Amino acid sequence: MSVTVRSFAKINLGLRIGAARDDGFHELLTVYQTIGLHDVIQVSVERGDGIEIRCADPRVPKDDSNTCFRIVEKAMGALRAKGHVVVEIDKRLPVQGGLGGASANAVATLLGLERAVKKVLPAAEKLRIAAEVGSDLPLFLVGGTALGVGRGEQVYPLPDLPATSCVVVTPEVGVSTPMAFAAWDRLCEGDGQQPAELRLAGQPGAAVPTQARKLTVSNASDRMNELGRVLSAWLSKPYSGAPFGRGRAENPLLELVRAGIENDFEQVVFPEYPELSDGKRALLRAGAKYASLSGSGSTLYGLFALREAAVQATAKLRKQGWAAQATATLPRRAYWERIVAG
Ligand code: C5P
Repeated sequence: MSVTVRSFAKINLGLRIGAARDDGFHELLTVYQTIGLHDVIQVSVERGDGIEIRCADPRVPKDDSNTCFRIVEKAMGALRAKGHVVVEIDKRLPVQGGLGGASANAVATLLGLERAVKKVLPAAEKLRIAAEVGSDLPLFLVGGTALGVGRGEQVYPLPDLPATSCVVVTPEVGVSTPMAFAAWDRLCEGDGQQPAELRLAGQPGAAVPTQARKLTVSNASDRMNELGRVLSAWLSKPYSGAPFGRGRAENPLLELVRAGIENDFEQVVFPEYPELSDGKRALLRAGAKYASLSGSGSTLYGLFALREAAVQATAKLRKQGWAAQATATLPRRAYWERIVAG
């Protein structure tokens, strides 16, 4: 039996990096938002045993380092299922792009596997397995708008917001997430050095010398608290009695991002990749109400009040040479309605 699942991407609406923990991870506070761009995952269970990953994209690993491989290994045991599992990945999202592509692929694989073996794991068990594979997998078991805390793996559904037009720009560079966290630590330590290894091997280095701003550790935790306060204020706006979003002055998602939320990764990624800072400026010049790096990048996104404005901005950005795609944020209900493709 073969099951096809859409593996939707996410963006981060603000991301604050807190203290480095003893386990090597960092405390995080972010709002995840699923969007309409997706890969397609096909899961089949045949006679035999073993796990096989198929993908035409040579950048996607086919061995046990693949997140889909790792989740199948864990889930087959938990499901007490047997068979030869084949996962086919139709890669449409950028690899290493800040859209959570590999994480979404793994969660889609888990959901497809449950259907293929006709067994279901309890929600808490799925969340546990997902978090073991990576910090930004569990969000894809919630979908829509979700608060992420801990190392990003503790997720809480936020009110389901109306779809908002969005333009995603995917520059060709890939940013290493662990290296971006390491660069953040150096920034907090205040040595002002941008580590050269933030740029992945084989890519040309930034020509401009970088001057990082010194951030003390307490500054960093103040910044985290500040995002917490912005979120609380936004969530506790007087409830009008209507579903979230109605009776408000404007689109609640735009209201949130306009309250001044930022992605801390921009401070270490932009100096190393000036072209990404240019991409954010290009989105704003093209009419985005808000633009930001997603996760540690290299994807940038812009939010628009109207679909027409997003489509026009996409055409304008493409003319300027940017790889831009118009899409929309994907509310939780639509996420779950659309996830199983057949
Ligand atoms: O959890 P995930 O596998 O996505 O994390 C990849 C790496 O990113 C971790 O090994 C760690 O170096 C870094 N990371 C972090 N703090 C987080 C999430 C990830 O330092 N909250």
